[in-house]
Amino acid sequence: MIFRQLFDSVSGTYSYLLASRPGGEALILDPVLEKADRYCQLLRELDLKLVKAVDTHLHADHVTGLGELRDRTQCITIMGDQTKADVVSMRVSDGDKITIEGLALDVMYTPGHTDDSYSYLMGDRVFTGDTLLIRGTGRTDFQNGSARAQYDSIFNRLLKLPEETLVFPAHDYKGDTVSTIGEEKRYNPRLQVRGIDEYVALMGNLNLPNPKLMDVVIPANMHVGLHQDELAKEGRALDAYEAIKSLGRPDVLLVDLRENGERAKHGTLPGALHAPYPGIDDSLKPGGMLREVATATGRRIVFFCAYGERSAMAVAAAKEAGLANTAHIAGGIDAWKKAGGPVLTG
Ligand SMILES: [Fe+2]
Repeated sequence: MIFRQLFDSVSGTYSYLLASRPGGEALILDPVLEKADRYCQLLRELDLKLVKAVDTHLHADHVTGLGELRDRTQCITIMGDQTKADVVSMRVSDGDKITIEGLALDVMYTPGHTDDSYSYLMGDRVFTGDTLLIRGTGRTDFQNGSARAQYDSIFNRLLKLPEETLVFPAHDYKGDTVSTIGEEKRYNPRLQVRGIDEYVALMGNLNLPNPKLMDVVIPANMHVGLHQDELAKEGRALDAYEAIKSLGRPDVLLVDLRENGERAKHGTLPGALHAPYPGIDDSLKPGGMLREVATATGRRIVFFCAYGERSAMAVAAAKEAGLANTAHIAGGIDAWKKAGGPVLTG
């Protein structure tokens, strides 16, 4: 396994680059915008293809690298269901798995620092975001933070993991890099409380100053979605209502870019072909499945995904591959459902 802990000294942020092998797919957790060059260089050096970029929560102290990495590598961006980010490619909730080639992260909803805080468990290690820090815990005094929720997330979820589980947080300001669940149970001063009320009182008395760049950073992190105006101007975006009207038309071929887990959870569209986004380049090449179907039937491919981001990137990839007559459903199946479109479930 490739496991790199990368540090941004300006914000004290740890980002993690994960892959199962050199030459394979990679995932990055909590990337920092200013470090995008460094990540891309490392990806090239290790011959990795970045396929997913994940934030544990909406950060208040640094601008996320999610949007930049998506624009540079066409990777999928991921945050939790509760995120206030305008668009991410995929949203996850408790119990889901985030997978790349050879690796899987178990998604744990651990609110408290913010209401969109998640932890990710990967075998012998857990990425705790700002929920559980080394000898500390993330503040709970803004972004819908809740000391009560955090107590529950820490005591009833994270501390229930095996004691030897390695703890990799999203930040450290003292120079620590890793801890274990057992170590934090015993030595984290915030966790030496008799119960929830004592923890709530402790967190209520921290009187921390706001992060320096919070007023700039939070709005920036809420506007991370791919700009899709150009596609619409070129007539290569159908809004949900137009898309619903085109359902069943013989000249349209709907293509679902989502993963099996998303299809099972949220349903799919009648008559849609399944072509997961990570394989899109191969599928669009001469001899590839989508290329062949489009050529053989003469139908216009209309891509869709969860929120319209993967499908917008697929339209661009198709154009690049010489397949000009494609479009996507703006806002994805989320917008389709909100517009009352029919969905197949089960
Ligand atoms: Fe945070």
